[in-house]
Order: sequence, then C-alpha cells, then structure tokens
Amino acid sequence: MHKKYIVANWKCNQTIKEIITWLNIVGPQTLKASANLEIVVAPVFLHLEFFKREINRKGYKIQLAGQNISPFSFGAYTGEVCATQLKEYASFVIIGHSERKKFFNEDETMVNLKIKQALDNHLLPVVCVAGGSGFDSQLNEMVANINEENIAKIIFMYEPPSAISKQVGPIGLGEAAPLEEVLVTVRNIKNKFPANLIFYGGSVKASNIKNFIKQEEIDGVLIGSASLNADEFVKIILNIN
Ligand code: PGA
Repeated sequence: MHKKYIVANWKCNQTIKEIITWLNIVGPQTLKASANLEIVVAPVFLHLEFFKREINRKGYKIQLAGQNISPFSFGAYTGEVCATQLKEYASFVIIGHSERKKFFNEDETMVNLKIKQALDNHLLPVVCVAGGSGFDSQLNEMVANINEENIAKIIFMYEPPSAISKQVGPIGLGEAAPLEEVLVTVRNIKNKFPANLIFYGGSVKASNIKNFIKQEEIDGVLIGSASLNADEFVKIILNIN
C-alpha cells in the first residue's frame, strides 16, 4: 500500500473535555498504525493549540488541519484566521467544503483565493470538489492563475454533497457514494491532474473504509461523523492496517 491519508473533519463539534477523552482512546492507537498511514485531525481553530500541545506531549502520530482559512493575508478582516497564523499549528487546510458553499456562500473564486493563501504559506490544501455538472469548469476556476508546480501540491477531495452523513447516532447516518461512481470521478480528476493526491469523502466509516482506501487511485479519505466517535475511529485505523 502506498502512503494513505485519513482526515478527520470535526466540523463544529467537540469540547476540550471531549478532545481529552477522544485522545486517550485514539492517541495510543496512532502509535500502532502503519507507517504508511497519515492521520490528520481538523478540529475548530479554537482547539488547535490545545490539540497540538497534547499530541506533542504524548508523542501521538497525528497531524493537524484547519477547516478553513481567510482568502486574505493579515489585516482588517474581523473574524478571520489567515494562513500565516494557521501554519503555526497545522500542516493541512480543508478548503471549499460544500457546507461552506451552502451556509457561507463560498464560490470557486473564493476557493481559488484561499488555495493561493494556503500554498503561499506552505499549507497543503485539501480542496473539496462536489462533482456533477460543470465539474471541469469548477476545477479550472479553482486553480486559475496558480503555477503548475503549486497546482501539483493541491489535494483534491471528491465529496458529493448527497453522500455526506447526517449527524445522527454514534457514527452518523448516510450512504457513501457507490465505489464505481467515485472511481469515475477520481479518474477524471487524475486525468486532468496526474501528479495530485486525490481523496474521497462522504459517509466513510469502519465498515466501508477498506472499499475506498485499498483503491490504487484513492490516496485518502475525509471522515466527518464517524471520526467523532473514538471507538469507531480506532476501528477505522485498525481496519486499514
Ligand atoms: P461525513 O462527513 O463523513 O459525516 O459524511 C464528511 C465531510 O463532510 O467532511
């Protein structure tokens, strides 16, 4: 198996107390995970410092990601966190998640500005692609005016919004997209961007992770609801090994 990634997207969930409990269960398992597995967690900005301190203190094999960044650098942008600040805590950043498009009106132009901020600050952008009609122009707009060397650093994450689980019950309620459909889209992205890593997201859990992660063309997965549940997340890690 070549190097694979699991990115836990915690969305607007967890308190410090819950992080402590989660880390006590998941942290030790990360030390037993395959060297070819990169485990990345994206908590809310507010928890990054605490999370980073804890994983450094315990030596857990977890990298951090932001769930978003400002399209601007430092300045008078109330409520924003810029890439230079995020870089102090995280190595990755999720950009253009469909929930940001749905609830915060983000469009591809905004996504493009954010990708540029991430790349200028050596953060690896995990850029969400919803697929569907206009797929090609969606990708073109996202990478507009970015040079080839930098484009190659973008991680594309195919996530059809209909596959995102509802946060109901311990591991969420939802159906992952059919593997064949995922592979068609992943191959389309690969044809356009052969050098890039490509992930899948949407209702990934312990019972189906292998279907996706064992595919040569799928370099990683983004996991929402199922990653919040420590026992389920441990099963996910163990099912990959
Ligand atoms: P889900 O969320 O795993 O709960 O479907 C994935 C995501 O939207 O990041």
